[in-house]
Amino acid sequence: MDLYEYQARDMFERHGVPVLAGLIADTPEQAKAAAEKLGGLTVVKAQVKTGGRGKAGGVKVAPTAEDAFTAAQAILGLDIKGHIVHRVMVAAGAAIAQEFYFSVLLDRANRNYLVLCSYEGGMEIEQLAEERPEALARVAIDPSQGIDLAKATEIAHQAKFPAELVDLVAPVFVKLYDVFVKEDATLVEVNPLVLTESGDIIALDGKVTLDENAEFRQPHHAELADSATADPLEEKAKAHDLNYVKLDGEVGVIGNGAGLVMSTLDVVAYAGEKHGGVKPANFLDIGGGASAEVMAAGLDVILGDPQVKSVFVNVFGGITACDAVANGIVKALEMIGEGATKPLVVRLDGNSVEKGREILAAANHPLVTLADTMDQGADRAAELASK
Ligand SMILES: Nc1ncnc2c1ncn2[C@@H]1O[C@H](COP(=O)(O)OP(=O)(O)OP(=O)(O)O)[C@@H](O)[C@H]1O
Ligand SMILES: [Mg+2]
Repeated sequence: MDLYEYQARDMFERHGVPVLAGLIADTPEQAKAAAEKLGGLTVVKAQVKTGGRGKAGGVKVAPTAEDAFTAAQAILGLDIKGHIVHRVMVAAGAAIAQEFYFSVLLDRANRNYLVLCSYEGGMEIEQLAEERPEALARVAIDPSQGIDLAKATEIAHQAKFPAELVDLVAPVFVKLYDVFVKEDATLVEVNPLVLTESGDIIALDGKVTLDENAEFRQPHHAELADSATADPLEEKAKAHDLNYVKLDGEVGVIGNGAGLVMSTLDVVAYAGEKHGGVKPANFLDIGGGASAEVMAAGLDVILGDPQVKSVFVNVFGGITACDAVANGIVKALEMIGEGATKPLVVRLDGNSVEKGREILAAANHPLVTLADTMDQGADRAAELASK
């Protein structure tokens, strides 16, 4: 789950990361009131979960409260890369002397954490990484060691901070790492981290991604979620406890077992190349005990995706035998009734496969086709989706 900047700001503050005062506002009037409360120069910032807000006109300096009103008026309702701005943060203005970059993230490929840090901020980090890779320090962090002051100092040196700044930024790196670990984040990014005219280090913009797998030990994270912008299909799947991830293709995929579903996605994508480039529409693992209710919930989610043109059900019977799955499919189609409008290709294999096929053949549902193999099923589903 990604946080809004103001949520990241609050989280930083709780962990002792230096930030500036910031108040949220949903109307220009509230923005004006916030600016009056903060006093002096403020910066009005769009709160959307995407980058490049400044370039899109989503960050405006407001010398007076009246200016904050006008700035909020201009920013609220703005479309930034498909995200409509419903809220702004009115932040105290900083007198910036220099801008830096710091982030710590989960490095899955190397099974540890990674810090990216640069003395040269104020530029998009992707651009910096490409144009001046030597200016961006990459420091692997052993999760069992973390970032103590010594490590933070080493990072600052590697990022080419001058000696007089190292002692100023290093403690902030330690605090940011605290946020990362204690909040179970997979990303904590500060761009820019600034040095002010008065010599303070401040995190001026924060991006935090929380690890949803850690929800069980972070009960307070629930209140940070905003259901309004979450994908409605993913919400529905979550309500049914299904492992569902929306993708952008046309072939809905249901399978049992994450490994089988992953390889089904590959096979469908491969088959799709022969049929006009259709792709899998989702990942959906209905797990071991695929009851009729679970199958119905899964089909319901997939059929609710307007992009889906066909569905490939790929099940390998194990503890739950194929006849139970077949009964599940038949009952699910009954339960969904008129809602089932897209062709289904079903491939069953494994425990009680013969019985399972008999059940589906006997039901003779007009939308259901049986496939003998995974390749055949994927090919047929891709073909149906391309029509
Ligand atoms: N409180 C502030 N006081 C003074 N200047 C600010 C303040 N907040 C932001 N700025 C200036 O605006 C620039 C852009 O701000 P910020 O980094 O928050 O947005 P962004 O980088 O455009 O958004 P994103 O990080 O989503 O791409 C900063 O680099 C900084 O120069
Ligand atoms: Mg930024």
